[in-house]
Amino acid sequence: MNMLKSPNTVVYRGKIDRLARESLNRHPAKVFWFTGLSGSGKSTLAHAVEEELYRSGMRTYVFDGDNVRHGLCGDLSFSPEARAENLRRIAEMVKLFLDAGILCLTAFISPLERDRQKVREIVGERDFFEIYVKCPVEVCEERDVKGLYKLARAGKIQNYTGVSAPYEEPLSPSLVVETDSCTVQGCVDRIVSFVMEQLEPEHVSR
Ligand SMILES: Nc1ncnc2c1ncn2[C@@H]1O[C@H](COP(=O)(O)OP(=O)(O)O)[C@@H](O)[C@H]1O
Ligand SMILES: [Mg+2]
Repeated sequence: MNMLKSPNTVVYRGKIDRLARESLNRHPAKVFWFTGLSGSGKSTLAHAVEEELYRSGMRTYVFDGDNVRHGLCGDLSFSPEARAENLRRIAEMVKLFLDAGILCLTAFISPLERDRQKVREIVGERDFFEIYVKCPVEVCEERDVKGLYKLARAGKIQNYTGVSAPYEEPLSPSLVVETDSCTVQGCVDRIVSFVMEQLEPEHVSR
């Protein structure tokens, strides 16, 4: 899937680069990658965090799993290969948004360590922060926000993370929030202060 089928192309670099866009925005571009089981709270938290950042005048964008599967990745299934391709496309898209100077928040289950590692490589280590939205599967299943755990348990959906497909916990996430024991606002506060810390000049490596 990574074979370049358009070798006779040369990247064009304009005068307005990422640094120029970041200075116009008055903040660096970074990626905060939320990972966790379905129903753990990724979308709730990523969007609530975005609201706070937006109110502080920052340029943000949330990439949400379900949304991209209605468009850019609508042709992909949930097989391990398709999930890897899904994340590869997201990572490449996020990389473009970084170049655009945007602070990116992503909400994808991203269940496999090797796929998250690949994303980290594509995006670049210094811009990538992994936020583990931790919640026991039993609690996610009880929440069953979309009613999909029920269908997965009944065998009506295949490859459902936490039921019939694995979730590998992040090995060394930048931040962990436990959504079964912390309120939404508590988690949001924790994440927003973490984000702000990473944007401080002394944390931003070039
Ligand atoms: N601390 C918390 N953080 C995030 N969501 C929480 C928390 N406590 C309870 N919830 C609830 O859990 C559900 C999470 O759903 P959602 O954000 O759609 O999960 P995901 O995007 O990970 O599939 C929501 O109904 C939300 O209100
Ligand atoms: Mg979601």
